[in-house]
Amino acid sequence: MELKLKIIKKCIISQDWIRWLNDKEVTKYSDNRLKKHSKSTQREFLKKKLKEKSCILYKIIYEKKPIGIIEISKINNFHKTCEFTYMIGEKEYWNKGIGTKLITLALKIAFNNLSMEKVNVGIYGNNKGSEKILMKNGFKREGKLHNYYKISKSKRVDRILFGIIKKKFKL
Ligand SMILES: CC(C)(COP(=O)(O)OP(=O)(O)OC[C@H]1O[C@@H](n2cnc3c(N)ncnc32)[C@H](O)[C@@H]1OP(=O)(O)O)[C@@H](O)C(=O)NCCC(=O)NCCS
Repeated sequence: MELKLKIIKKCIISQDWIRWLNDKEVTKYSDNRLKKHSKSTQREFLKKKLKEKSCILYKIIYEKKPIGIIEISKINNFHKTCEFTYMIGEKEYWNKGIGTKLITLALKIAFNNLSMEKVNVGIYGNNKGSEKILMKNGFKREGKLHNYYKISKSKRVDRILFGIIKKKFKL
């Protein structure tokens, strides 16, 4: 399986990225579901992100095809911590083991290239696929913020916090 992460350095937005962000199934577990996305809104977002020193965006490339985005954010060089947020926008690539491999690659970058010592991820409590790929990479469930996200008029779900420290990550 040829999976690569390519740093986004230029403010170029693909139509695919907009399509992923406007796909309610893809953004079901993200606050991106609350907005309508266009090239111009995304250009503003990316312009801001590219100026931030504490964040790096990567294209997820599977067998030469861009299939999603992963962000390493909140990079703190004192505490040596960061966070991941990710989406595989091309849904036909779900449930093939790519997400698991994606997290392994991102952990290698965080620990080996960025010299981080702890990685944190917060997810919607009902995002079972995401929970699975974190657990399979050695993340531990570290906490829960009760009823954090509103998912419908009458339903809320928890925010689950996962974390992994470098010494627990097997390269
Ligand atoms: C979450 C995501 C990255 C997972 O990627 P993926 O390539 O499908 O992940 P994998 O195939 O490596 O593993 C998914 C696992 O979760 C399981 N799974 C998926 N949906 C599930 C569900 N509703 N209930 C239980 N298990 C589920 C799969 O069966 C698979 O388990 P297995 O490894 O035992 O077969 C991908 O679905 C995605 O990008 N979704 C949209 C955005 C998103 O949710 N991002 C995360 C925000 S924190």
